[in-house]
Amino acid sequence: MPGAIYAEGLVKSFGDVRALDGVDLDVSEGTVLGLLGPNGAGKTTTVRCLTTLLRPDSGKAVVAGVDVLNDPDAVRRSIGLSGQFAAVDEYLTGRENLQMVGQLYRMRGKAAKARATELLEQFNLADAADRPVKTYSGGMRRRLDLAAALVVSPPVMFMDEPTTGLDPRNRQQLWEVIKQLVSGGTTLLLTTQYLEEADHLAHDIAVVDHGRVIAKGTSDQLKARTGGERVEVVVHEHAEIAGAAEVLRAFGKGETTVEEHTRMLTVHVTGGAKLLAEVIRELDARGIEIDDIGLRRPTLDDVFLSLTGHATADAPRCADEGVGQEAEDDKEAVT
Ligand SMILES: Nc1ncnc2c1ncn2[C@@H]1O[C@H](COP(=O)(O)OP(=O)(O)OP(=O)(O)O)[C@@H](O)[C@H]1O
Ligand SMILES: [Mg+2]
Repeated sequence: MPGAIYAEGLVKSFGDVRALDGVDLDVSEGTVLGLLGPNGAGKTTTVRCLTTLLRPDSGKAVVAGVDVLNDPDAVRRSIGLSGQFAAVDEYLTGRENLQMVGQLYRMRGKAAKARATELLEQFNLADAADRPVKTYSGGMRRRLDLAAALVVSPPVMFMDEPTTGLDPRNRQQLWEVIKQLVSGGTTLLLTTQYLEEADHLAHDIAVVDHGRVIAKGTSDQLKARTGGERVEVVVHEHAEIAGAAEVLRAFGKGETTVEEHTRMLTVHVTGGAKLLAEVIRELDARGIEIDDIGLRRPTLDDVFLSLTGHATADAPRCADEGVGQEAEDDKEAVT
């Protein structure tokens, strides 16, 4: 039985750009899927297809048990969406924006008011609640937009880069809000450029590149697949780099990389802490003074780099980032 969010073979092209090239996803109820991928990979397009804002050229999508293409209205009633760019009314205050959303969802005036106050507190916006949004900073808009997505608690939520532009404290707070939401049974698909965020929140991770899911699994599974612990050594003096490199070559697997300016050497190893102890003994025996040494396990960043060949914020694959076609895709919204 498909999960709360299910996609099979989603394809979407914009002119020559094949934004989605057969995306498959399956998110179990009450879990968080982290959708990762470099700029232009197709994350937002996937979210837009699943939230009925864009009609895929082909493929199948089921959200909250409803076929997205056959019954988009029913899907809209079951989902909440916070997009990559905040969608709030500039001329209304924060409080008015949230109350309006409540009313759109047919909440009674009093309930909408109470919910707005609660969310303004939760998102650190109480002080600015009665100012027009056009006076808000970027991070404040972002938070208001997220609050708006949470006015009613829909069973399925989509958040496209929810914490981009938030400072560390607000990001942490949002993580807490998300955790609470999910512990209450909400299913969440979230895209992010912060791999730490995916590590922290997502039960499962799908890595998208060139419009396809190229890897999926838990964070641990993906890290294990990338493989390899490594030993990192920072030697005290530049002159000791060559000697340390010799030691690492003897214990490590494959090439030893050297960063001259930081005096850091890195090599992949197998053998964990025991091997680390041997490396330390050998460096010591040779009188090589070290400032730092450690065994590093792969991070999600390493996974991402090894899978996609570039870091999260690297260049998009398509020079033609389609600003001009925005209006066009609104016409394509599923009706
Ligand atoms: N409305 C559009 N018109 C033309 N091309 C588009 C449109 N929307 C997306 N694209 C193209 O589709 C591809 C996927 O874009 P998408 O916005 O889904 O990427 P993304 O993974 O969300 O990237 P980012 O990390 O930068 O947000 C890109 O090459 C993009 O230029
Ligand atoms: Mg995007």
